Amino acid sequence: MLDQLIATLTPLTFHNRMKALCDLMPNAHSVCSTSFSYEDQILTYLIADQNLPITLFTLDTGRLFEETYATWHATQQAYPHLRITSYAPDAEALTTMIADQGVNGFYEGKEQRLRCCHVRKVEPLKRALDGVDVWISGLRHAHSSFRHDLPMLEMDATHGVIKCYPLLDMEDDALRPFIDAHKVPYNALHDRGFPSIGCAPCTRAVALGDHPRSGRWWWEDESEQECGLHRVDGKLMRVKKD
Ligand code: ADX
Ligand code: SF4
Repeated sequence: MLDQLIATLTPLTFHNRMKALCDLMPNAHSVCSTSFSYEDQILTYLIADQNLPITLFTLDTGRLFEETYATWHATQQAYPHLRITSYAPDAEALTTMIADQGVNGFYEGKEQRLRCCHVRKVEPLKRALDGVDVWISGLRHAHSSFRHDLPMLEMDATHGVIKCYPLLDMEDDALRPFIDAHKVPYNALHDRGFPSIGCAPCTRAVALGDHPRSGRWWWEDESEQECGLHRVDGKLMRVKKD
């Protein structure tokens, strides 16, 4: 089934892929995760504009930028018929983590950083994907070498869902023109040198020409970083499609 979906969706333009997916899987419970990035705002616009039966959710880590919360609010106002469900970290796990490693312990080592990402993002993601069949996300080939070989759809063995990336082949310079043309609300940080935006303490602006993800977890001694939403211990947990 996955092969058939890939063959059908890949040749379509990004505008039509989610609609085609909903038509092909009418009984599936489909969700789309949003961090209010350019990519996620484009997916949100398409879901709203085409009135697609796809539920949006965000992982509110508690450490997001004010500008991200403002974008969330503006998005909800722009598309009032859309429901954006938020998932917060488990209160007990958060309390224990902060007691163990401090509120900013993530700067002290990779282990502490991954524990924070686990408590604030990965575990809430597990709850967000409970009972879900299809998880739509804004990953693109151009993001990084980790992502440049992704197929349009794949099985995510960790969560037992099909993942779908409708914007997979969209180039960096196509994002903003779409946002402007359709008057989509966007994160003001994008105009201040932040091409990739995560939690506030773990994201900084990058210089023109630098790798767009180089402002994420910049203190860690690795060129490309992931938080475990899409990779577990550096590896994407996929299963072979057959
Ligand atoms: S991350 O893994 O490095 O944090 P990135 O910022 O590139 O992810 O975003 C890629 C996709 O991950 C987004 O399109 C979105 O689907 C999902 N995502 C990232 N952060 C969040 C978040 N806080 N809430 C919901 N989805 C998120
Ligand atoms: Fe914690 Fe930083 Fe990961 Fe956010 S990105 S969950 S603040 S380590």
